[in-house]
Amino acid sequence: MTQLRVLVVGAGAVGQVYAHHFQRGGAAVTMFVRAKYRAEAEAGFELYRLRRRRVEAQRFEGFAVATTAAEVAATRFDQIVLTVATPALRGPWLPELIAAAGDATIVSLQPGLDARALVLAAGVDEARLVRGLISLISYHAPLPGETRFPTPGMAYWFPPMAPCPFAGPRERTAAVVAALRAGGFPAKVAKDTSAAEAFPSAVMMPYLAALELGGWTVKGAARSGTLADGARAARQAIAVVRHVLGRPPLGVRLLARPRILRAGLWCARPLIPLPLEIYLEAHFTKVGDQTAEMLDAYVAKGRAAGLPVDALAALATRLAAHRGAARQRN
Ligand SMILES: NC(=O)c1ccc[n+]([C@@H]2O[C@H](COP(=O)([O-])OP(=O)(O)OC[C@H]3O[C@@H](n4cnc5c(N)ncnc54)[C@H](OP(=O)(O)O)[C@@H]3O)[C@@H](O)[C@H]2O)c1
Repeated sequence: MTQLRVLVVGAGAVGQVYAHHFQRGGAAVTMFVRAKYRAEAEAGFELYRLRRRRVEAQRFEGFAVATTAAEVAATRFDQIVLTVATPALRGPWLPELIAAAGDATIVSLQPGLDARALVLAAGVDEARLVRGLISLISYHAPLPGETRFPTPGMAYWFPPMAPCPFAGPRERTAAVVAALRAGGFPAKVAKDTSAAEAFPSAVMMPYLAALELGGWTVKGAARSGTLADGARAARQAIAVVRHVLGRPPLGVRLLARPRILRAGLWCARPLIPLPLEIYLEAHFTKVGDQTAEMLDAYVAKGRAAGLPVDALAALATRLAAHRGAARQRN
């Protein structure tokens, strides 16, 4: 049997974890990184799997590194996994990469109502597009205050009973899931990932904006009233996604009530082996453009459909002003 060849695009928090598990499952892995990261990637990565009560250090090395579409064209890849954030899908690099990809399955993990269209616009054929949803948490460790890691690296956690779903053409989807599972990565085939991604995102993005405005603590956001603003905006975002995709699952509608969200967080907190608010601040500061873009997309799609979006628009405007002021301070 020939060895599976996988190209993982982006060697950030998510890319390293997926790539490491493809390799553990027996695939030959190439990391596609910006030229400025080549030396860093070639040196290999430290990963830390967070278990309930301990941290398991894992060295990730022995993969190839590519930085240009020409290098990609020189190898026949079976699967190409896009792990960059949604705004990074824009720009000429992606059509160039896709043109160099031959018949490889393209796996897109990006959130947002427009992510699929962005990938298709770059020249990907529907018949080889597999969409995946990321249910793991990964971050550049240590977070402020964390002392449990001997050296900086990428920490990750697989929430129990939440395998990452993949959907798309049957054989190609099954091959992606099998390759990851062979490496111990919890993955499953799903009929569709759009609703499973879009509704939770519609709840999360407004709440994240509220959290950022409230100083990145749930208490701060509740005290300042931004949590309630976030809940109103979340209900409007759910209505927008509902207009596009149909009825949301019950759990999603319940989470748009701040009391239920806070109670859920309170129950979940002891089970999550990382400082959640500090992770949220670090991660969603890093992908802040993506959050803003998703809020703007709810506003635009809601307006086009004649739905109320005043709470969403107000939140997006306040967030932009808040970030502008923070940039001026720094
Ligand atoms: N981390 C999590 O826990 C988590 C959980 C759920 C969903 N997600 C989603 O997963 C996506 C990625 O998140 P992440 O945490 O992995 O972000 P990240 O750590 O910033 O990783 C993304 C990487 O892709 C690189 N990149 C961007 N454009 C590129 C290009 N044209 N060619 C090669 N590399 C490129 C970035 O480089 P630069 O930094 O130089 O731009 C960065 O190293 C986001 O959509 C995020 O919302 C993440």
